[in-house]
Amino acid sequence: MPQAQIIDGKAIAESVRDEITQRAAKLLEESGKQPGLAVVLVGEDPASQVYVRNKDRAAEACGFHSVKHALAADTSETDVLSLVEQLNNDPDIHGILVQLPLPDHIDESKVLRLIRPEKDVDGFHPVNVGLLTAGERSSALVPCTPAGSIVLLKRTLGNTLSGKNAVVVGRSNIVGKPMASLLLQESCTVTIAHSRTRDLPDVVKAADIVVAAVGRPEMIKGDWIAPGATVIDVGINRVPAPERGEGKMRLVGDVAFDEAVEYAGAITPVPGGVGPMTIAMLMANTLTAARRLLDLPEEDPLF
Ligand code: GUN
Repeated sequence: MPQAQIIDGKAIAESVRDEITQRAAKLLEESGKQPGLAVVLVGEDPASQVYVRNKDRAAEACGFHSVKHALAADTSETDVLSLVEQLNNDPDIHGILVQLPLPDHIDESKVLRLIRPEKDVDGFHPVNVGLLTAGERSSALVPCTPAGSIVLLKRTLGNTLSGKNAVVVGRSNIVGKPMASLLLQESCTVTIAHSRTRDLPDVVKAADIVVAAVGRPEMIKGDWIAPGATVIDVGINRVPAPERGEGKMRLVGDVAFDEAVEYAGAITPVPGGVGPMTIAMLMANTLTAARRLLDLPEEDPLF
């Protein structure tokens, strides 16, 4: 059987970041301003620390003003809320990202709702969720992982998503739900499946486009994929890799890649697929937020 095209998320993310770097330079010329991104991390979760460091580096590489606030795990909710308020009022900050998960004593939704929607580069504020759901994508800030997944689909399939059957496996607020909204806006016929879906293999088999975002390692098997379908694997799961030595781990997606590559027409690898796109789209959202806050005209959308 022919092997699937491997979608190179790293290369596509790099081209998006190059474009953003150029646009940031243009913004600096036009307004004397750099896009400003503030990332807030509470506690010492090692995975979150890696993400935050990568975001900070990417922002600097794009020529942004980047600030990182690393707070102790026992920081009070009040202190986190007043930091968000301070960033809301800081004219040099156009994007605010509070890394999730937050420690248990902090009410996540209270913090996310306090972020000014115009600075909500994660797209998690109810105002942005509402705009996206209402089909007003162009005035919303769109969550980065779903936005990056659409870019990958369009770079792979061209602007031909219309009419395709898309199945999103997973119903999270961060990926599944916004992904379904975006696919609907691209005129796909969208099914949201999840852990309780009956006959999941058959549901997936009916899809021209499969987006896997369940957070369970290699749950979606190769023979669930229709021949020639396009597979976007959002999962990032750490699993033991004894073949690499004792205690070693490796990253796998939500799709059994080695099997699925025999069926799919195109598929994203893990790592190197959706992951790099998330950070690239965060840079894009920060630039969009900066232009809007500075009352400058919007540039061509990236997707
Ligand atoms: N934790 C895991 N994914 C995300 C994300 O996209 N944004 C934030 N803020 N935290 C996360």
